[in-house]
Amino acid sequence: MSNHAEHNARVWDQLARRGAPLTRPATEADLRNPLRAVDPQGWLGDSIAGWRVLCLAAGGGRQSVLFAAAGAEVTVLDVSPEMLAHDRRAAAERGLAVRVVEGTMEDLSAFATGGFDLVAQPVSTCYVPDVVRVYRQVARVVRPGGLYLSQHKSPVSQQATDQPAAGGYTVAEPYYREGPLPAAAPGRLREAGTLEYLHRWEQLIGGMCLAGFAIEGLVEPLHAQPDAAPGEFAHRGQFIAPYVRVKARRADSESPRSKPTILSV
Ligand SMILES: C[S@@+](CC[C@H](N)C(=O)[O-])C[C@H]1O[C@@H](n2cnc3c(N)ncnc32)[C@H](O)[C@@H]1O
Repeated sequence: MSNHAEHNARVWDQLARRGAPLTRPATEADLRNPLRAVDPQGWLGDSIAGWRVLCLAAGGGRQSVLFAAAGAEVTVLDVSPEMLAHDRRAAAERGLAVRVVEGTMEDLSAFATGGFDLVAQPVSTCYVPDVVRVYRQVARVVRPGGLYLSQHKSPVSQQATDQPAAGGYTVAEPYYREGPLPAAAPGRLREAGTLEYLHRWEQLIGGMCLAGFAIEGLVEPLHAQPDAAPGEFAHRGQFIAPYVRVKARRADSESPRSKPTILSV
């Protein structure tokens, strides 16, 4: 396994042992309507009963349990054994079946070609340097015509300071850069100790098209509050959308497209 994956596995193990916010399982409130909790946009329609779903880099017992509660046949892959322990525990507590696989999102060779109807990935591509490599793996394991729902940190959010100066936030990191981002203060934007990478739009969205997906939806979930105090997450959210959520569909043909295809919105 790559050095960055091993490093991030160790850090997420520690975060999971500490019960950090993004390592917590699904709540009772989430479970009242599990499908809406994992798909607030309604991109998956009214039912996913019987769908074969891969929760990619999604350990912690939230996504896996919610998809299983919505009736899907769930596999969860994560690099952190401690995050996966949360999935095992949370599924057992609810009497749900979840298959748990330890590994990196950069190598999905453990899975059959076209074996999933849906791959669902919460924010996690920031932990690998080459996002297109991940997309190519996903394109192989999702069936032609199947869906890939993913969420990513926006490039400008990875570039900008977390605290304001002169009323605004500074774009402090170059857009064209190599290697991990400098260490940042822990908070809602970054987890302490992880290695994170910035991905440009041409990689995040163009890369999906190159891997054989057509984009069917794109939203920037709102994290802005007009009355938030300077420096708060929701104040920064007035200036910068921290995340982007993408609905992509695997092309029907087996061969990836050679040129990006972007459907107009
Ligand atoms: C923000 S958490 C996502 C799951 C969380 N349940 C949530 O609600 O957002 C990011 C996850 O990515 C995982 N991760 C980091 N690098 C990875 C890699 N190379 N391959 C697979 N998983 C990885 C971490 O272990 C962590 O569980």
